[in-house]
Amino acid sequence: MTIEKDVAAHYTTEDLLGRIREALRTAGADPDAPAPEDLKGIDEFHTGGVQATDDLLDQLAISQHTRVLDIGCGLGGTSRHIALKSNAFVTGVDLTPSFVETGEALNRMVGMQDRVKLLRGSVLDLPLVEDTIDLVTMFHVGMNVADKAKLFSEVNRVLVPGGTFALFDVMRMDADGGLTFPFPWAEEPAFSFVEPAAAYMEAAEVAGLVFKSIRNRKDFALDFFKTVFARIEEAGGPPPVGIHLLMRDTAGEKIQNYVNCVQAGLIAPFELIFRKPV
Ligand SMILES: C[S@@+](CC[C@H](N)C(=O)[O-])C[C@H]1O[C@@H](n2cnc3c(N)ncnc32)[C@H](O)[C@@H]1O
Repeated sequence: MTIEKDVAAHYTTEDLLGRIREALRTAGADPDAPAPEDLKGIDEFHTGGVQATDDLLDQLAISQHTRVLDIGCGLGGTSRHIALKSNAFVTGVDLTPSFVETGEALNRMVGMQDRVKLLRGSVLDLPLVEDTIDLVTMFHVGMNVADKAKLFSEVNRVLVPGGTFALFDVMRMDADGGLTFPFPWAEEPAFSFVEPAAAYMEAAEVAGLVFKSIRNRKDFALDFFKTVFARIEEAGGPPPVGIHLLMRDTAGEKIQNYVNCVQAGLIAPFELIFRKPV
């Protein structure tokens, strides 16, 4: 419980909605009624942003009838993107109250409140009935979750037989190399639980999920950040609507530490896909 309190505090920043609206105004978008794309710089808080989301979704079958659950949904950007792409109804669950409140406000601002619902809750105790979800997605959340066995057993509980769990998390490549904090997901090691892909696979197997595929996205991540850094250099600073708004004044240091550790081969973002047997 104290880990969850620390994690939620880490992601809580003052007047987030007010600062997003201000950034939208600066970017030339309508701060009262932005288009969903206007939010992409901030509402997909994971390596590669919406491109990484599409790269994972492209491997999945999603129709308007698919019941989707995005766990650790943050501001709900990935949930809204899935709903827009497939017409599916998407539920998001997140630990951090200000992300859920702000995400719900963003749903209303873009007119998607009937297609996406964000709930406050933990991946370790999902506020959903068993056997009700066809697809669970998770983007950059497991690094904050120590009890991966419980996470996978909760996902297995809510999935229907034949359902899919697709995730994209930062994982350990080299267990011995020391990590330099802060990172975007944690100021300090006390609430960072970056583990090798093997730990996810073991937790999945124990929960009863079957492994389907794995993809190391190290090169994609390094290319992505090279482009982002070049754009920032050219523009003389980050764009108004950007994930720096979610990371306080150490945003630059957090991202640089992450990129350095990926470059050094210590960690990398990986996709993993599992199925619940029929
Ligand atoms: C790096 S952000 C990613 C947010 C979102 N998935 C995205 O890509 O935009 C990590 C998110 O995981 C959430 N989180 C961490 N631990 C959680 C838990 N035990 N239960 C639910 N959400 C959790 C945090 O509140 C935060 O919103």
